[in-house]
Amino acid sequence: MHLEAYSKSDLLAWSRELEEHYRGFQASGLDLDLTRGKPSIAQLQLSAALDGILDGDYCLADGSDARGYGGLDGIPEARVLAAQWLGLTEAQVLVAGNSSLTLMYLFMLSAHVLGLQGAESPWCRQSGGARFLCPVPGYDRHFAICEELGIEMLPVPMNADGPDMDVVESLVTADPSIKGIWCVPKFSNPTGVVYSDQVVRRLAELPGRAGDGFFIFWDNAYRVHEFDTTPVPLLNIMDECRRRGSQGRVVIFGSTSKVTFAGAGLAFMGASVDTLNAFRRHLSVLTIGPDKVNQLRHLRFLPDMAAVRDLMVRHAAILRPKFQCVQQRLREGLGNHGMGTWTDPAGGYFVSFDALPGLAARIIERAAAAGVKLTPAGAAFPYGRDPEDRNIRLAPSYPSVDDVDRAMQVFVTCVQLCSVEKRLGELGADG
Ligand SMILES: Cc1ncc(COP(=O)(O)O)c(C=O)c1O
Repeated sequence: MHLEAYSKSDLLAWSRELEEHYRGFQASGLDLDLTRGKPSIAQLQLSAALDGILDGDYCLADGSDARGYGGLDGIPEARVLAAQWLGLTEAQVLVAGNSSLTLMYLFMLSAHVLGLQGAESPWCRQSGGARFLCPVPGYDRHFAICEELGIEMLPVPMNADGPDMDVVESLVTADPSIKGIWCVPKFSNPTGVVYSDQVVRRLAELPGRAGDGFFIFWDNAYRVHEFDTTPVPLLNIMDECRRRGSQGRVVIFGSTSKVTFAGAGLAFMGASVDTLNAFRRHLSVLTIGPDKVNQLRHLRFLPDMAAVRDLMVRHAAILRPKFQCVQQRLREGLGNHGMGTWTDPAGGYFVSFDALPGLAARIIERAAAAGVKLTPAGAAFPYGRDPEDRNIRLAPSYPSVDDVDRAMQVFVTCVQLCSVEKRLGELGADG
């Protein structure tokens, strides 16, 4: 029954019952954590063969030794894999160290401070400052990069098929100081949204409308992270950009962080040859080259995309029950009460929950007091500010299924409790 259909006395009785239930959780001394999307130990174990796989053989396909210096773009065999992973040619990709986020930071730093197209090109030189479009809710670490560099963030609503392109287009057309947009096109963090063909095509047209130096940051972090064996398609952004002459304005990222070892994988970056060359000039000052030994052991373990797919099927088998548990608890506890809405993604690492307005921080606080840590309220918004205080990111990948189940029982109880309290407040003394 919908929350609004309850009488005040029923709500009071329900709230007493929920309080008692909640105190029971508090007394049981839980210590659970749904804060960050990281692979569980069982998932990391799937790549245990990486350790020792080289067995003293450091010889690369081109005959050189992986232990030596050099090779800014990564080892050739890793670039072949990266090209398939990102949907580009080998000339358009480079393979770096363990973090694609580092590459994103470095690319943005290069564009903003150092310049990618000559002395006058840094965004920071332009009067009035640089702005960036941030679909919300989004990935907090993307927003942290903009904040660190002093790039003003403009939130854009996220629809079920990607960013609201009407809003995006009107902002970009009206304001040439907007220098780009963050995109997580597949199983977006945290909504799990996959961009539709229409959205990808409209994004590819943006550089034609935007001011100078505009870049689409295409962070395809969850490219191979389906829960099911059926691949979820996504249009190739580079192909779409090429058709519109905007191929130099997209920069594509990916990594094996949620495929092999989260902290010791490979990061991929792709762009047009010209854009990649401009970036390389800065990268080559920062480093002589990446950890090629790690690249080589990855390539021995995952020689091609078929091997990656096989591994991801095994990841999915571990992740699926956890996400199913989240959905079941939400459905059973909140299904028809009108206490919130949530996403049900087909892959990725998150579920995005929208509580009734004004309740996210309170729910998170109450869950913490019962031993369940959740991502801080507002984390998925620029500057940590959720204007409606309603979004909560749920990340069930790390704990066991039993712990996810316990954490979700607490979460659902906290949502019920806070929603009933809110409704009672609305009804007031004489409702
Ligand atoms: C959208 C997105 N991009 C990038 C990352 C981090 O990637 P990496 O480990 O390659 O730096 C994450 C991690 O949660 C993510 O959700």
